[in-house]
Amino acid sequence: MSAKVIVFIGGTGPEGLGLAARFAAAGHEIVIGSRSPERAQQAVEKIRARVLEARATGMVNEEAVRRGDIVFVTIPFAGHRDTLEALAPAIGAKIVVDVVSPLAFEGGKITAIAVPEGSAAEQAQALLPQAQVVAGFHHLDASRLMRVERPVEGDVIVCGDHRVARETVMALAEEIVGVRALDGGPLANSRYLEEFTVVLLNLNKTYKVHSSLKIAGIPGRAKR
Ligand SMILES: NC(=O)c1ccc[n+]([C@@H]2O[C@H](COP(=O)([O-])OP(=O)(O)OC[C@H]3O[C@@H](n4cnc5c(N)ncnc54)[C@H](OP(=O)(O)O)[C@@H]3O)[C@@H](O)[C@H]2O)c1
Repeated sequence: MSAKVIVFIGGTGPEGLGLAARFAAAGHEIVIGSRSPERAQQAVEKIRARVLEARATGMVNEEAVRRGDIVFVTIPFAGHRDTLEALAPAIGAKIVVDVVSPLAFEGGKITAIAVPEGSAAEQAQALLPQAQVVAGFHHLDASRLMRVERPVEGDVIVCGDHRVARETVMALAEEIVGVRALDGGPLANSRYLEEFTVVLLNLNKTYKVHSSLKIAGIPGRAKR
C-alpha cells in the first residue's frame, strides 16, 4: 500500500502506541493524538525509541485527525461517545478504524458493556454518518505489538459496511508482520468481535499469557 498518514485518537495508550509503532515500521506516517500535546510528544518519543526510522508527530486529537488519511480510535469506551461527537466535523468522510471493546472490570470480573447502538463501532458510525467506519484489531495484544522486532501471530477480523474501506484496512493489517486479515462482513458483526475480547482476557488471566485469535480452515497465510 502507498504510504498513508495514520492518526491515533488516544495514541498515548498501549494499544494505539503498539499499532502506531507497527505502522511506522511499515513506512507509514504516524500522527499521535491526545488530549494533551505533552503526552502526545512523549508517545512519539516512545515510538522513535523502537522504530528509529519512524516518521511520527504528536498533537491534540482534533489537529491530529485533520492531518490523517485513516483515523484509529484507541481510547477506552468510557470516552468514546463524547470524543467522537466532538471530533465529528474534523473526521468528516475519512476511514475510521474502531479498535474499542466496551468492557467493565469489576471485582476481578471482566464483562462486556451493552451498547445501545449494538457495538462501539456502530455507535461510531451513528455519530460519524459521513465516515467509513470499520471495526478491527480488537484481538491484537498491545504488549506484543510493542515488541516490533518480533512477528505478531494472529488474525485481524475486519467488519464494516463500506467495501473499499474494509479492503483498505485489511491490506493495512497485513503490513503487520505475522498478521492475516479476514473479512468479517458488515459492521453489525462488530459486536461479536468486541465481546469476544472478554473471552481472550479471561484466557490471558487463566493461562498467564497474552493470547491472540487464529481461525482454522481458511487457506492463506500471513506474510513472514
Ligand atoms: N490494551 C490492549 O492490549 C488492547 C488490545 C486490543 C484493543 N484494545 C482497545 O483499545 C482501546 C485502547 O486501549 P488502551 O489499553 O491503549 O487504553 P488506555 O491506555 O486506557 O487509553 C488510551 C488513551 O485514551 C485516552 N483516554 C483515556 N480516557 C479517555 C477519555 N475518557 N476520553 C478521551 N480519551 C481518553 C488517553 O490518552 P490522553 O490522556 O493522552 O488523551 C489514554 O492514553 C480500548 O478501547 C481497548 O478496548 C486494547
